[in-house]
Amino acid sequence: MFAAAVRDFPASMPRGAEQPSSNAVPGPDAVGRVLLLYSGGLDTSVMLRWIQEQYEAEIVALTVNLGQPGEDFEVVEGKARQLGAVDAILVDAREEFAGEYVLPAIKANAIYGNAYPLFTALGRPLIAKLAVEHARRTGCDTVAHGCTGKGNDQVRIEATVAALDPDLKVIAPVRQWSMSRDEEIAYAREHGIPVKGGTETPPYSIDDNLWGRSSEGSEIEDLTEPPRDAVFQLVTRPEEAPDEPELVRVEFERGCPVALDGERLELVKLLERAAQLGRRHGVGIVDHIEDRIVGLKIRDVYEVPAAAIILTAHRDLEALVSTIHQNNFKRTLEDKWAYLCYAGLWHDPLRSDLDAYMESANEVVTGEVTLKLYKGSVTPVARRSRYALYDRSLASFGESGAQFSQDSSPGFIELFTLQTRMARRVRHQQRHQPVSGPEGPSPKTLENEGEER
Ligand code: ARG
Repeated sequence: MFAAAVRDFPASMPRGAEQPSSNAVPGPDAVGRVLLLYSGGLDTSVMLRWIQEQYEAEIVALTVNLGQPGEDFEVVEGKARQLGAVDAILVDAREEFAGEYVLPAIKANAIYGNAYPLFTALGRPLIAKLAVEHARRTGCDTVAHGCTGKGNDQVRIEATVAALDPDLKVIAPVRQWSMSRDEEIAYAREHGIPVKGGTETPPYSIDDNLWGRSSEGSEIEDLTEPPRDAVFQLVTRPEEAPDEPELVRVEFERGCPVALDGERLELVKLLERAAQLGRRHGVGIVDHIEDRIVGLKIRDVYEVPAAAIILTAHRDLEALVSTIHQNNFKRTLEDKWAYLCYAGLWHDPLRSDLDAYMESANEVVTGEVTLKLYKGSVTPVARRSRYALYDRSLASFGESGAQFSQDSSPGFIELFTLQTRMARRVRHQQRHQPVSGPEGPSPKTLENEGEER
């Protein structure tokens, strides 16, 4: 048996006791059958064996396809069985991910920290929901995941499991086993676990799906250095992107992207196609200093070609069809939406409240935006919508339409600036001949200002 043994359970927690609080790590006797969220990588492969040993529990492995580029899911499923899983389940959740998670994020123009389009944060509540469903279906009493104790993902998964099925126990072996990466590789060798790409450690911690890809760790942690070219496995380096720009026309119906260059596509296909285009033109590279929920500041390098294209187009179209008041107001709700999603609070009722607003605001986001892709940049260059709050004859310098009388502008300016002018005058007076007492400026001053009406 491997050295990292049951000593890792809290001392106050005898083997076999029921969980005294939601904080406790369930002991081996409390765990019968475990639904393991299995990616096929080193951590979760080691985990698949480790849980069997430490808990003497059966493992059902669940692997979720969210459109991770280049992943061979059949191989992952086979590996789970080979490592002793009593069942290995593969769920293609791309459609649900695109429709129920990415689409609301598009409608909310969701970006965390002005940079991160939340692809990982959007995926976790779906993965956790599927874990709960399949745990119930296969008679598991516990869900296991491969997240560390320092990240956001543990929060997102456990928040969702707790919200959907409070009776399910959760184990997070990486938080317990205190193995270094080298020790994990040694464990893998000892237990005949195939390690992807031989034994050399993959240099970065990667997470990806159809909405983007993140790289963390290794030399990315050195904030004083630009990321190495080797980080970029998805997006072409802008320097090497084609010398000719490419135009792409994105069409939306009620906030949902429905066609590219006139070709109607299912959302998953459309997002994949957008990603391909963006990758070619070096679009969607983000180098982000991020505030994690657990308090750490971390540097992430993101490659988000699909999000860069779709969000840019959506924002542009929405601005055209919404009023100035809607545009200003929505931004604050968008930040709130992005934070809830980032923080794993997908099931907080505030998120569905905000979604109701987003749905309503997107009722009229129908039309198309043409973007220019060129060596890393995405720029809206043309747009059209039957809901556009735009009238060329009104906007034009040369003409004056019936709805806009320039003669009214002086009156508008007078009233619009009333408080600004009054504040300036009152404060100026107070500086030079202050009136003492809490009552402030003399009524006379205000009366005089009132006479300007
Ligand atoms: N910083 C991003 C987030 O918190 C990406 C996390 C990537 N997760 C991972 N397990 N590598 O959502």
